[in-house]
Amino acid sequence: MEDIIRKITVFGATGMLGRPVVRELVNDGYDVTAMVRDTGRAASKLPEKVTLKVGDLVNKEDIAAALEGADAVYLNLSTRPDVKKHDTFIAERDGLENVLEVVGKINRKDDGSSNTENAGGNADGRKIRRVAAISSLVQRYQGSNGFNWWVFEIKRWAEKMLMEASVPVTIFYPSSFMETMDQGGILQGQRLMLVGKSRQPMHFIAGADYGRMVAESFRHHDSSDQFYDIQGTEALTFGDAALEFIKNYRRGPLKITRVPMWLIKMMGAVNGEVHYLAHIMEAMNNHPESEPDDSVWKKLGRPKVRLAEYARRL
Ligand SMILES: NC(=O)c1ccc[n+]([C@@H]2O[C@H](COP(=O)([O-])OP(=O)(O)OC[C@H]3O[C@@H](n4cnc5c(N)ncnc54)[C@H](OP(=O)(O)O)[C@@H]3O)[C@@H](O)[C@H]2O)c1
Repeated sequence: MEDIIRKITVFGATGMLGRPVVRELVNDGYDVTAMVRDTGRAASKLPEKVTLKVGDLVNKEDIAAALEGADAVYLNLSTRPDVKKHDTFIAERDGLENVLEVVGKINRKDDGSSNTENAGGNADGRKIRRVAAISSLVQRYQGSNGFNWWVFEIKRWAEKMLMEASVPVTIFYPSSFMETMDQGGILQGQRLMLVGKSRQPMHFIAGADYGRMVAESFRHHDSSDQFYDIQGTEALTFGDAALEFIKNYRRGPLKITRVPMWLIKMMGAVNGEVHYLAHIMEAMNNHPESEPDDSVWKKLGRPKVRLAEYARRL
């Protein structure tokens, strides 16, 4: 049987970074199914061509139904700022574990194994041949300068689960997304809120460029695991990125508000979401990103969108 990936099931499609990936998968001709919790909301966010299946990652039957007929899986899962360390279900950890378990069962069923309870199985007898997932570059800051954050522990754990999976996997490690500026809480009204001192330049990438790279990666499917650091072409600290954004943003003038890290840490002692912000910003401000790997651009395509253009298009 030819080994081409055509049908991809996406979990987390409605997320900030799931949407551009789904758009580019569809643009590239893949047949995309998204398992979503709210089909009405999803329909307003995703291209019409996407098949929506309602479901929750808590529920393995929902996952199995969403995987029917799939050649591959793409996971856009997160540990959101409102999630607490001791929550019993965290999508990025427990949702991933459920998906990998169901994928394993579906593939064993196709192998003729008897262990098939609850697995939807693929009607045409084909296997799920690849699981691809987003991780992040900045989680590599864990352990540097005494930094230790349970959210990054989850990312490490997810990476390990994927590497031990029974199917070939692809893990993407993106730098900061341009979307963080306008959709990730930095732009608030007519202000850009910057926390602490951004010391390290990041290679900001647009969701659309990342989506195109993900789509291309499925063409390089073989039996190997694949790992890609995903970076844009310009290196900017958050401060420089904010200035570039302001220069090109057309929906009115913007100002920068700088909030000292000590204040955010103090407020974080009583507010979980601010505590999350303090940690993610500390890691982003201090993580030294390596230079982009040209071989990734050669294989998956060179990112085209610069931050100026991204801001202009908003
Ligand atoms: N921001 C950056 O610059 C950056 C850089 C590198 C890596 N990343 C990583 O990229 C990942 C994705 O980020 P994001 O901003 O797209 O995350 P997000 O907006 O929080 O999206 C999470 C998705 O998971 C879905 N989901 C959550 N719980 C679910 C459940 N129980 N059942 C079914 N679906 C569920 C959500 O669906 P609903 O719409 O129903 O809630 C949503 O579609 C994160 O792990 C992040 O760390 C981010």
